[in-house]
Amino acid sequence: MISSINVEADVIVDLQYGDSGKGKVAHFLCKTGKYTHVLRYNGSGNAGHTIYHHGKKYVTHQVPAGVFWGIPSVIGPGCVIDPDQFLQEVRELEEGGISTAGKLFVAKNTHVISKAHREEDAGDKTIGTTKRGNGPAYRDKYARKSERAESIPELQPYLIDLYEELYHKGKRIRVLGEGAQGFGLDIDWGDYPYVTSSHCTVAGFLLNGFPPSSVRRVWGVAKIYETYVGTKKFEPENDPVFEKLRKIGQEYGATTGRPRQCNWMDLDLIEEAVRMNGVTHLVFNKVDVLREVGVFAVLEGGKTITFTGEKEMKAHLVKRFKTLGIPKNRIFFSESPEAI
Ligand code: IMP
Ligand code: MG
Repeated sequence: MISSINVEADVIVDLQYGDSGKGKVAHFLCKTGKYTHVLRYNGSGNAGHTIYHHGKKYVTHQVPAGVFWGIPSVIGPGCVIDPDQFLQEVRELEEGGISTAGKLFVAKNTHVISKAHREEDAGDKTIGTTKRGNGPAYRDKYARKSERAESIPELQPYLIDLYEELYHKGKRIRVLGEGAQGFGLDIDWGDYPYVTSSHCTVAGFLLNGFPPSSVRRVWGVAKIYETYVGTKKFEPENDPVFEKLRKIGQEYGATTGRPRQCNWMDLDLIEEAVRMNGVTHLVFNKVDVLREVGVFAVLEGGKTITFTGEKEMKAHLVKRFKTLGIPKNRIFFSESPEAI
């Protein structure tokens, strides 16, 4: 037996409404060789992480980014899993040349999305869900009337006991926590009811069996502008700049293909997310898109602030997040789609 002190974690959190480029950051961090495990801590097939591996594009939904590097990858009990979609995804990865054999695991206490959950979600008209059955599955989990991965025959080859894996193997454990969705979609802190049904924060990661003291780095990921998919009105009306942003940034859902509504990056939302997650490292993705659009702007206090150019905007961000305890050398500006 070894103590929990041997378990350390870095956690990736999305500071916006999903689609901020977490997949890219996860892929990049995995490459450092630092991690013994990668664990998806919330959500399900509703997520769509776009990953470029050796120049080839992959979209993952439930499978963690660790599989691209052969790192043991776990779907944690904070997630809900659709066995059919999961097996389909595994097949597609294998066909695309990514071997998952012996590297992909599902915590046995992860709850399952059933066909009935999917069918119910297909009828959603109010939230604009991804129709993957995510919300009904979490509801039934909390109502104590759903099945867990351990009782699904097709999932038997993938099952693990997470407690055994993390605490009883006598090994030093270094986990990368890979989140789905984002702070603006969080069940408690997002814009309810236009949210997803899981916890998209570091607290959501901890629920997967990790003590608070295990957390080292918290990678907060944002896109240098903002997008949202769902029924609420999000994009300012009659401003062609957002149409341009959508086209140049290729802002169409990775899971559903829906056009994403666009807006400038809301710094007050990001500040809230940075504080509540204890973000130590900050990544702003897709800077090249604003460059091509030719406008550099943010929202602050509900107002649009426009900058003279990229340099002025970056200086503004560095200054604002320095006051939140994130020094300049932990703020990264990144382009799409290549790695940071
Ligand atoms: P659900 O998670 O499918 O129930 O959808 C609830 C809300 O979260 C909808 O507005 C979805 O578009 C949004 N959503 C869920 N997953 C993602 C994601 O991975 N990226 C962006 N939006 C998402
Ligand atoms: Mg996505």
